[in-house]
Amino acid sequence: MEIIPGGPPPLMIKLNLFSSMAPAFFLILLLLPLNLLLVSATPANNALVVFSPQDNYLIDCGSSTATTLPDGRTFLSDSDAAKFYSSNNEDILVNVPSAENVTSPLFLSAKVFTSESTYSFHIARVGWHWIRLHFYPLDNKDHNLAAARFSVVTDTIVLLHDFTFNSEKSTLIREYIINLDTERFSIKFRPKDGIAFVNAIEVVSAPDILIPDTASTLFPISEFSGLSEQSFQTVYRLNVGGPLITPQNDTLDRTWVPDTEFLETKEMANTVNVATNVIKYPQGESPLIAPQYVYATAVVMANANMANPNFNVTWNLNVDTSFDVLVRLHFADILSKALNDLYFNVYINGRVAISGLDLSTVTGDLASAYYKDFVFNASMAMNPMKIQIGPFDQSTGQKNAIINGIEVFKINNSMGSLDGEFDVNGRSMNGGSKGTVAAVGFAMMFGAFVGLGAMAVKWQKRPHDWQKRNSFSSWLLPLHAGDTSFMASKYGSRKSQFFSSTNGLGRWFSFAELSDATKNWETVIGVGGFGNVYIGAIDEGTQVAVKRGNPQSEQGINEFQTEIQMLSKLRHRHLVSLIGYCDENSEMILVYEFMSKGPLRDHLYGKNLPPLSWKQRLECCIGAARGLHYLHTGTQQGIIHRDVKTTNILLDDNLVAKMADFGLSKDGPTTDNNYVSTAVKGSFGYLDPEYFRKQQLTDKSDVYSFGVVMLEVICARPALNPQLPREQVNLAEWAMQWKRKGMLEKIVDPNLQGNVNPESMKKFAEAAEKCLEEYGVDRPTMGDVLWNMEYALQLQDQSSSKEDDENKETSAPAAAAPPTAEGATKPAETQAVDEHSGSAVFNQLTDGR
Ligand SMILES: *[C@@H]1O[C@H](CO)[C@@H](O)[C@H](O)[C@H]1NC(C)=O
Ligand SMILES: *[C@@H]1O[C@H](CO)[C@@H](O)[C@H](O)[C@H]1NC(C)=O
Repeated sequence: MEIIPGGPPPLMIKLNLFSSMAPAFFLILLLLPLNLLLVSATPANNALVVFSPQDNYLIDCGSSTATTLPDGRTFLSDSDAAKFYSSNNEDILVNVPSAENVTSPLFLSAKVFTSESTYSFHIARVGWHWIRLHFYPLDNKDHNLAAARFSVVTDTIVLLHDFTFNSEKSTLIREYIINLDTERFSIKFRPKDGIAFVNAIEVVSAPDILIPDTASTLFPISEFSGLSEQSFQTVYRLNVGGPLITPQNDTLDRTWVPDTEFLETKEMANTVNVATNVIKYPQGESPLIAPQYVYATAVVMANANMANPNFNVTWNLNVDTSFDVLVRLHFADILSKALNDLYFNVYINGRVAISGLDLSTVTGDLASAYYKDFVFNASMAMNPMKIQIGPFDQSTGQKNAIINGIEVFKINNSMGSLDGEFDVNGRSMNGGSKGTVAAVGFAMMFGAFVGLGAMAVKWQKRPHDWQKRNSFSSWLLPLHAGDTSFMASKYGSRKSQFFSSTNGLGRWFSFAELSDATKNWETVIGVGGFGNVYIGAIDEGTQVAVKRGNPQSEQGINEFQTEIQMLSKLRHRHLVSLIGYCDENSEMILVYEFMSKGPLRDHLYGKNLPPLSWKQRLECCIGAARGLHYLHTGTQQGIIHRDVKTTNILLDDNLVAKMADFGLSKDGPTTDNNYVSTAVKGSFGYLDPEYFRKQQLTDKSDVYSFGVVMLEVICARPALNPQLPREQVNLAEWAMQWKRKGMLEKIVDPNLQGNVNPESMKKFAEAAEKCLEEYGVDRPTMGDVLWNMEYALQLQDQSSSKEDDENKETSAPAAAAPPTAEGATKPAETQAVDEHSGSAVFNQLTDGR
């Protein structure tokens, strides 16, 4: 139930509406299913979208009559298309009445070229266009089409280079997607030494949304922009788990073929399907991207209902590894019965492409279309390309995975070619071999890749031109780039502070170093809005937690900058310390000390770890509170954590608790205005209602969240649990009802019952209650909370030592140290004593009795 929205999320829009309303609204809001909050627009069922292409040239070459296909499209006869055609040779038309294994009438005629011949079209609307070329080497006594060898080029792009059927009798449709930006568009057929031919030509406008400008990259995880400048050739278009889809059933006349023959192990895959009209298209999706037929069928894991399914379903696709590739994956959750029940991983070429994909959250609904694009560097390509889906380890829902469609496109190389390494004029890159041409082409696109392997350098040895290497990405972290205007505008006056302290930012790691340290990002130990956290080892074995920013979440860059800036200023025993970072190749990676015992929450519920004793819980809370108290008061302007929760309190080997995740931190109140106003961030169940109403952030918001943490510690249940009856969903509300009735013990974690000094519990619960006061001004400071918890600990220590005394029937000194009168009135924050050494509270207690 965690939300960490970024940018101006839909949540924000809702909040503005709510901000002036009564507090009651806050609770109602919390009870709504999360999806309602995250999806602002109701998905319109726009499945019946029709697309009318402005440019629509269809030619049945060599045919004496026009030809109408079953999908309703009519192709012009050769003579009607003569106005588009120019050539020095005579027209040679060949045709046959019928042919074996030929399904389309378009293949029954062809036009043969004995010298370079050109088709030219007037382009009414610049933008994406489909170019489809149909070939079939039909029998002809004068010309051996099956042996013809030829090239096909446009004015700028090589479509086919020295192509031949090699005497093989088969049909071939080559499909390209090209962004045309001129009024005239030509296709030239160039015989190599003899003849060229073509059976049919399509030049048809495609909708703008078909190819967005950006896609994700995986090596490294980043964003690629500039797709609109590339040309594409369709390599695969698979209707996963379903039948052949012909142009008749696709608004854009595409063909989708079944995926079965590409499955590595068919036994591992099950197909599922729903009625076609069930599929919805949320905002940003469209049947123009893929028709309902594609999303209405899918492959899921076979035997997924076995106790612990642990395998991937794998597709192997042959690709030409000298070209960059665009992979488009289509998903719709047609499997689940409930929202947020299916989380799975998607891998491409053995690397995580999407970790813990939750279609419910990205689409807001079941059976709702979603697609994602990835761009692959040729130099990282594998043949066959592997696409895999598998279960997500941390999943709380069903262990399964789903995919509905796969498309693979080749991207032109730097010579402007989609076939071979020659440009349209037949020039090759100077002496370049096949491999290097593609690699160089990619390097030009992704400046960041140059010399990736050679970058095992530390901060001091950073390459001089590292800034340029990084400069392709819009969300690049301009950490040391003091002159970037982006930073200047974003951080205003804080700019200089941010940049001047470069040496205080901890150690700089190269990407290669961290890939090594994490064994190629092998083990994920945590997942958050920012990205995954991996375990790694540096400097011969020091364990570290490596948090790798995921550019798929827009929020990344701000959080990263904030976090690195914050953490580098802070050192405290109860704050997880930052060891260093990596911004190479526009990665956003933070390296932290490793907290071996994980989040406090895991020790409270859900993970079947041995329950913590009350004393251990108190110590954890006290540690976390010390960390927070330091954040609020230990730095000059004060820092508000903004996301206090049990998953952000981490425990080390000795169960020492430390506050983690400052990604949402904001500097605290300044002198001008005593609050920070920002987009509401934080996690449901922990959010301060006042912050929600006023959108004013104070350190008392952290105090509220900490109050919820305290209740979690008492009750060992999540802050929000939508599965419970309505009145129990929200822990803060529910626990406070019992507290007010004086019956809190009814909901105390059964593991604690009988092992807690009731006075200690009472003190602790009272402090929690104060933290949860409606108005920030009525809540205690973290210092006060800390003091009360230490008091509670002393009460507990005292009673257990008493018990010990009774049990052992000895008169050994109490575990707690002797009271000191001096500490009695001092607030905890000014005491330098450690929490076990006894202090004021003990004194107060004994006096009280
Ligand atoms: C699934 O595939 C990925 C990438 O190839 C691999 O790392 C992972 O271990 C596989 N999972 C299982 C359960 O085999
Ligand atoms: C593809 O061609 C365009 C020019 O048409 C060029 O700008 C682009 O860089 C090429 N793509 C690659 C990967 O080299």
